[in-house]
Amino acid sequence: MTAVQGSRTAPAALSDTGVADTIASEIAALPEGVKAKTSTRFPLNSAFIFTFGALGGMLFGFDTGIISGASPLIESDFQLSVAQTGFITSSVLIGSCVGALSIGSLSDHFGRKKLLIVSALLFLLGSGLCATATGFLMMVVARILLGLAVGAASALTPAYLAELAPKERRGSLSTLFQLMITFGILLAYASNLGFLGQNIAGIRDWRWMLGSALIPAALLLIGGLLLPESPRYLVSKGDERNAFKVLTLIRKDVDQAQVVAELDEIKTVAAQDTKGGVTELFRIARPALLAAVGIMLFQQLVGINSVIYFLPQVFIKGFGFPENQAIWVSVGIGVVNFVSTIIATLIMDRFPRKKLLMFGSIVMAVSLGVLAVMNFVGDVTVLAVPTMILIAVYILGFAVSWGPIAWVLIGEIFPLSVRGIGSSFGSAANWLGNFIVSQFFLMLLAAFGNNVGGPFAIFGIFAALSIPFVMKFIPETKGKSLEQIEEEMTRR
Ligand code: BGC
Repeated sequence: MTAVQGSRTAPAALSDTGVADTIASEIAALPEGVKAKTSTRFPLNSAFIFTFGALGGMLFGFDTGIISGASPLIESDFQLSVAQTGFITSSVLIGSCVGALSIGSLSDHFGRKKLLIVSALLFLLGSGLCATATGFLMMVVARILLGLAVGAASALTPAYLAELAPKERRGSLSTLFQLMITFGILLAYASNLGFLGQNIAGIRDWRWMLGSALIPAALLLIGGLLLPESPRYLVSKGDERNAFKVLTLIRKDVDQAQVVAELDEIKTVAAQDTKGGVTELFRIARPALLAAVGIMLFQQLVGINSVIYFLPQVFIKGFGFPENQAIWVSVGIGVVNFVSTIIATLIMDRFPRKKLLMFGSIVMAVSLGVLAVMNFVGDVTVLAVPTMILIAVYILGFAVSWGPIAWVLIGEIFPLSVRGIGSSFGSAANWLGNFIVSQFFLMLLAAFGNNVGGPFAIFGIFAALSIPFVMKFIPETKGKSLEQIEEEMTRR
């Protein structure tokens, strides 16, 4: 067990109280049939738990990515103005910001699992309403509901995954959330391509596009019902017995002594925690809050969603591409994004997070810088392909670093008592940054006479500025237990 230093008195360890031994022997003594039955409360292996636990990410990616293909169709069907279409796109981001902010204290109070179920229900409701919307107003309401769900999932999932994962693999397992986001984006692009012009059973193509989100939403609901509650949350509510059971079932590869030691450590730190809430967050977790909000704002201000949401427009407006070719460019970038994120899951626990972040910043700053200079001084008519390659390099830089790590960190750096609410603030900052970039990108592009060099130069400056930010404000979390991180952050 990692001893927790300081003047505060550590409570009796689990092993001292014998609770762990009692529970373990209770489980061991059960007849096989009953054991199987008991374990149906947590009948799942870790692969299932982490995959389904991260599923909120797929809906996040799908619901934010799908609108790029669906919005022109909705615009012509409902005869909307450009401003109304823009609002349909951004209403999800407003909902997400509100959803992220409101979910945190609820999840510290009611637990991660219950709220994952609530967000799955919101996903179902929002997707159903989107697919059946009869006009602008209903669509906006549906998109805001969907946003609430996306925002909630984006604040809940990182904390849930971080709290379940063993410290040696927490980086990779938490990166599954980002992997699901990129997979969701790719599915959205595929759904846009697949349903375009297909009015199956007399139902308009865009309704199929938006309605296909019902499938992952239903999966998330089923997963939510089956998934175990986070052991750390259970300890914070004094339910050691179930915390021990969950830990035993998700740490099948270690012996019981290690599970007991882990539970002791969680218990020791939880016993020192205060009661949580916003006031506590600002009182005890200011360095973590600054790191979380900063990393999330930078993650958006480097301009990732100008590429994810608007790449076809960039190639149509900037390089005169026809629409059908431009859509394929974004599919290609979606694939690069997804594959690079697979690489990220493989390397996440091998390199310090701060080094990876700085590596990503350098790759993004250099690729965007070269792209900007090239488009300002070169002959734009021959620059489409080099621009595409540089954007792919930029995406790779983002996907192995800032994409996953921003979400991994907000699940790691807050003390247990304010972890839910802390990740809420971080997540809300991400949605705010996303909203700003999405609202202003096309205007910015127009302001530079459709020269992509303009907006991308600004994003490149943010990528460069992110380096000193990481050096000064981001703590290194790789390989440390959440309790060790909590101790270090409290000392700061
Ligand atoms: C960001 C999203 C972005 C996605 C792209 C996520 O980490 O938060 O805004 O669309 O990465 O892969």
